Amino acid sequence: MVDGSFEKELTQRADYFEEILKDFLPGEEGFAATVIEAMNYSLLAGGKRLRPVMMMESFKIFAGKGCDMSVVHPFMAAMEMIHTYSLVHDDLPAMDNDEYRRGRKTTHAVYGAGMATLAGDGLLNLAFETAIQGAVKGKELSSYDGDNSNRYLAALDVLSAKAGIRGMVGGQCADICAENSGFPGEDRGEVLNYIDENKTGALIESSLMIGAILGGGSQDDVRKMERIGSNIGIAFQIQDDILDIEGSQEELGKPIGSDIRNGKSTYVSLYGMDKARARVKELTEQAMELLNSIGSDNSFLSDLFEYLIYRKK
Ligand code: IPE
Ligand code: IPE
Ligand code: MG
Ligand code: MG
Ligand code: MG
Repeated sequence: MVDGSFEKELTQRADYFEEILKDFLPGEEGFAATVIEAMNYSLLAGGKRLRPVMMMESFKIFAGKGCDMSVVHPFMAAMEMIHTYSLVHDDLPAMDNDEYRRGRKTTHAVYGAGMATLAGDGLLNLAFETAIQGAVKGKELSSYDGDNSNRYLAALDVLSAKAGIRGMVGGQCADICAENSGFPGEDRGEVLNYIDENKTGALIESSLMIGAILGGGSQDDVRKMERIGSNIGIAFQIQDDILDIEGSQEELGKPIGSDIRNGKSTYVSLYGMDKARARVKELTEQAMELLNSIGSDNSFLSDLFEYLIYRKK
């Protein structure tokens, strides 16, 4: 059961990640200094750091107590870089056209749309550089029972696929195409599920899966983590859509009303607020049941999932 001490534990983990992230930040020098500054501006703007925390907790479940966390650090940083790039591009005038993010002016509002586009590109590539370096320099891991016996390669495979056209980018594409009742003739519920599962679910799935792969989980465990991530990701996006209507900019650090202004297709616009709230709970409960079937100590992750149902930011 989530109580007051949970938030403290979550903050501790986010702070732990902030320290790790600093080690992977590029220096702002040379003729590319402006783009690097824009990258660091968006990365260091704060944010809840939920994806790296989820990756770390999934890793701990499979690697056990006293495990060597350095294996997963570069992948945690890479995940936050990919997530941050997705936000920088999502806010661009050509996409959602939003002016605030993580309590500050968006990257394009400070550096211009061209530099924000490049900052996103830079973050995506830096993510892969960071994860690949982690794989090259990381300690040897047990072999994996999937197609990739090398756990680092299996993790890189998931990292790249879930961020791309079969993941986040695919979801963002459908999100734009579905604006103002786009996709005529298609089942709107099906389209919406695709959007949520991909634009948001994919990176959460990826975080939980990579933690399991590097932590020593089996292919079966990783598939379970993928299903858990899908449920939690869709629930997370529905809650984001709820907060876009009834949240506050002060708490969220980003403007509300963006979805209505852009004619977005969301769970709330399709089914209404009550059904949206019920769906967040239902999806989370299913995820928690699956998580419990994994057996090891998963209390932090399951508290986190419960906490996210009622989040206000
Ligand atoms: C925002 O993600 C974008 C969505 C996928 C809904 P977060 O709510 O995790 O944003 P930050 O990282 O805390 O800023
Ligand atoms: C975006 O969904 C998800 C991403 C892949 C960035 P939203 O457009 O609803 O995210 P916010 O509300 O701007 O954070
Ligand atoms: Mg968007
Ligand atoms: Mg947006
Ligand atoms: Mg939103």
